[in-house]
Amino acid sequence: MLRILNLEAGYGPLRVLKGISLHVSPGEAVAVIGANGAGKTTLLKTIAGVLKARSGEIAFDKQNIRGRPAEKIVAVGCSLVPEGRHVFGTMTVRENLLLGAFCRRHVDNSAGVDESLEQVYDLFGILKERSNQLAGTLSGGQQQMLAIGRALMSRPRLLMMDEPSLGVAPLLVQSIYEKIVTLKRNGLTILLVEQNARAALAVADRGYVIETGQIVLQGPSRQLSDNPEVQRAYLGKEYRRIDE
Ligand SMILES: Nc1ncnc2c1ncn2[C@@H]1O[C@H](COP(=O)(O)OP(=O)(O)O)[C@@H](O)[C@H]1O
Ligand SMILES: [Mg+2]
Repeated sequence: MLRILNLEAGYGPLRVLKGISLHVSPGEAVAVIGANGAGKTTLLKTIAGVLKARSGEIAFDKQNIRGRPAEKIVAVGCSLVPEGRHVFGTMTVRENLLLGAFCRRHVDNSAGVDESLEQVYDLFGILKERSNQLAGTLSGGQQQMLAIGRALMSRPRLLMMDEPSLGVAPLLVQSIYEKIVTLKRNGLTILLVEQNARAALAVADRGYVIETGQIVLQGPSRQLSDNPEVQRAYLGKEYRRIDE
């Protein structure tokens, strides 16, 4: 579904992505794990069209999407839940969700949007309860759910998530990750980047390890989490999958 080849990107003179190649097949959940500053956010921003690639290829459904503006990339079915959530604090939960459907205004009728809203409310009951509350009054974990819900309103086929566990209380991390498993079971394809390798590898089918803008290791999640280097650098001692 997504295929990236030798992708390079950066900021001004700073070269961040140094030839990243990866792919995500339909129905897969793929994790990219790496330390702070490794280039994970830069990778997702470049795929999402927020940051311009310097070279390399980005194909979505075999179409070249490199260089397309961000809203066109959402429109083809590739949606990003940004790091730090970026919900609109002075708007209500419902208004934030409706913004996520913005790119659909030409294609869909409002009935489709209402249906998506119901699906998001079914997944995250708390968003329904709080639908008229200002987003700024939600907890970090609830705002993360809202950011995921907002991305789902564009009806993506590929959902990209940047550090969904960052700044979220441990109990809510578990619950957010359970929802990610539900989304995957419902057929959504997922690309997840995380410093929290434990959480990400517990739900992903496959993973890539990124270090200073390069992929240094890749493989099935089980193989990565059994790798002594990955354990030492990213996992610590115990870890378990939560999808079984
Ligand atoms: N807007 C920016 N301008 C300049 N440098 C940036 C910007 N964003 C990130 N960087 C730098 O790019 C590198 C990779 O950052 P980032 O992709 O955010 O890493 P990660 O998400 O893995 O923590 C870091 O060295 C960071 O300081
Ligand atoms: Mg980041």
